[in-house]
Amino acid sequence: MIYFDNAATSFPKPEMVYDSIMKVMKEYGANPGRSGHKLALKLGREIFETRETIAKLFNIKNPMNLIFTFNCTESLNIGIKGILEKGDHVITTSMEHNSVLRPIKALEKLGIEVTIVDGDSKGRIDPLHIEESIKENTKLIVTTHISNLTGTIMPIHTIGKIAKENGVYYLVDGAQSAGVYDIDVEKMNIDMLAFPGHKGLLGPQGTGGLYIKEGLDIREMGQGGTGSTSHLLEQPDIRPDRYESGTPNGPGIIGLGAGVEYILEKGIDKIRIHEEELTKHFIEEVTKIDKVKVYGPLDTKYQAAVVPLNIGDLDSSELSYILDQNYDIEVRPGLHCAPLAHKTIGTFEQGVVRFSFGPFNTHEEIELGIKAIKEISKEA
Ligand code: ALA
Repeated sequence: MIYFDNAATSFPKPEMVYDSIMKVMKEYGANPGRSGHKLALKLGREIFETRETIAKLFNIKNPMNLIFTFNCTESLNIGIKGILEKGDHVITTSMEHNSVLRPIKALEKLGIEVTIVDGDSKGRIDPLHIEESIKENTKLIVTTHISNLTGTIMPIHTIGKIAKENGVYYLVDGAQSAGVYDIDVEKMNIDMLAFPGHKGLLGPQGTGGLYIKEGLDIREMGQGGTGSTSHLLEQPDIRPDRYESGTPNGPGIIGLGAGVEYILEKGIDKIRIHEEELTKHFIEEVTKIDKVKVYGPLDTKYQAAVVPLNIGDLDSSELSYILDQNYDIEVRPGLHCAPLAHKTIGTFEQGVVRFSFGPFNTHEEIELGIKAIKEISKEA
């Protein structure tokens, strides 16, 4: 089986991720931050160490400003809904995933003004269009770092600069970039960074995080037990407790920590270069095939390891089915939870078949992928 669906979730994971999860489950899966016994303390300490490791990866000075969530969608909901109030204006782009667009559209009904800046046919966003959209009441800019549909790498550094110069907060959706592309919240003027644990960071599903800049007072989405200030009926305002009510996903967070350790040991540059090489070769070859339409910038300087394509008018679900059944190749078809992005690149009707590569894909697998597309396109 060849797995080319890493943009949906990375698979497989490093062995150390599986091992660490099993170890927690079998040996010290107590409830961290509640009791004072050895097992609870051990898991609590390791969760803190994971917070520190991830904070280092994104140059977050204080690990307490990093909160764990259950996925990137939850992180984005907290970031978007926690900061915007009636009368505020938010700017986002047509290249966003529904995890950004749906919370924003829900807020629009409550009196929040929304501007959606359009991308071009390759999914690129012009930061000038974002700057021109800033108004007196603009409070927040939300953009993805890398489009989950086209792999287009967005100029987040420039957008962060624009946000800072205009006194607007900047929330980055790192769903497709965290663990593969450099993210420095300080240098890039990122006020909030949402990321999943189960994609580029190589952790298990059910993990994610949100960085919230020191002093940025966003509302928590839920209240409950935190194991701290238990004599009070009000939610504590200390971080991370304010945003982390209820029993955390202990085994998941430790597995995520192991994924990040793997990345740090291997080197994020090495992983990215490997993915760039695979992507470059795949793009070069599939663009030569008759009837094949490939989307995105088609240049790995501007496109991550996410390559959407179609063969003529063949339905994307059918193509994906043929790849799965006849070639044992796993990809994602259809609309990729990003309807406006499909409209932007002109694939709203047909959808696309998305190939997305990860650190464990090999050159041989890429060759087999190319061969499959060649054969199918001959028949189509
Ligand atoms: N957001 C994930 C994707 O793009 C699930 O496939």
